[in-house]
Amino acid sequence: MFKYDAPPALLKDKIILVTGAGSGIGRTAALTYASYGATVVLLGRTTSKLEAVYDEIESNGWPQAAIYPMNLEGASEQDYANLAATLEQEFGHLDGLLNNAGLLGELKPIAQYDAETWQRVMQVNLNAPFLLTRELLPLLRNADHASVIFTSSTVGHEGRANWGAYSVSKFATEGLMQTLADEEDGISQVRVNSLNPGGTRTAMRATAFPGEAADARPAPEEIMPLYLYLMSTDSINESGKAFHAQR
Ligand SMILES: NC(=O)c1ccc[n+]([C@@H]2O[C@H](COP(=O)([O-])OP(=O)(O)OC[C@H]3O[C@@H](n4cnc5c(N)ncnc54)[C@H](OP(=O)(O)O)[C@@H]3O)[C@@H](O)[C@H]2O)c1
Repeated sequence: MFKYDAPPALLKDKIILVTGAGSGIGRTAALTYASYGATVVLLGRTTSKLEAVYDEIESNGWPQAAIYPMNLEGASEQDYANLAATLEQEFGHLDGLLNNAGLLGELKPIAQYDAETWQRVMQVNLNAPFLLTRELLPLLRNADHASVIFTSSTVGHEGRANWGAYSVSKFATEGLMQTLADEEDGISQVRVNSLNPGGTRTAMRATAFPGEAADARPAPEEIMPLYLYLMSTDSINESGKAFHAQR
């Protein structure tokens, strides 16, 4: 497990956007960032789940969050532009972007893989992070040392039978991360890395491994040290790298 001791005010005054913030790893990351002092923009497709996270942040007395409901599957380029304009008006810059929302799709061989599911998975896991990151880049460049995290997977590093579009989308995510990191190198203070959470106890994991014991994998809370490290100033010299939360 990646180890990192974060001081309590690690993310004080930071503005961080988390996608898929209503449940799973994204929910825990949003709560964790808020608990370390960040103002978190909660983006997700289910408003009630975002509201529950917002309420939890408020009841703990952490910096007030912002809710931005958005379905990454159907969002248009204009929707992303509107989001960027709202954040520009509200905050003027963005210190962190955690591209976390993801879709598993179906676990089937390529020979039988449904084309529509393929498109949906690519849209949420790859095209949406591209569009979101592109639109938010000016705001990220406005910050001192902004951090962009793309969420990867073990099957984004080694292909595995039946993981179909999910695996391919994560390989492409690594390519997106490396390309952007290389482009920002030397022209901005934006760092760009990928993060593989490793098998983690969430709804997605339970769908992918239905027979697995509930406590076989760590809870999202246990993998947060790497999520904190990559958003902290301790990682300002890291860019273009693939990180693994559980190695
Ligand atoms: N858990 C693991 O073992 C594991 C391992 C490797 C990588 N990962 C990656 O880690 C990330 C988080 O996974 P997780 O396990 O937390 O998955 P999860 O429990 O299924 O949560 C996925 C999140 O993405 C959101 N989402 C899905 N489709 C969306 C859309 N069209 N628009 C907006 N938001 C959408 C979901 O929102 P709703 O709650 O509203 O549906 C949910 O908040 C994913 O990128 C996943 O690929 C997970």
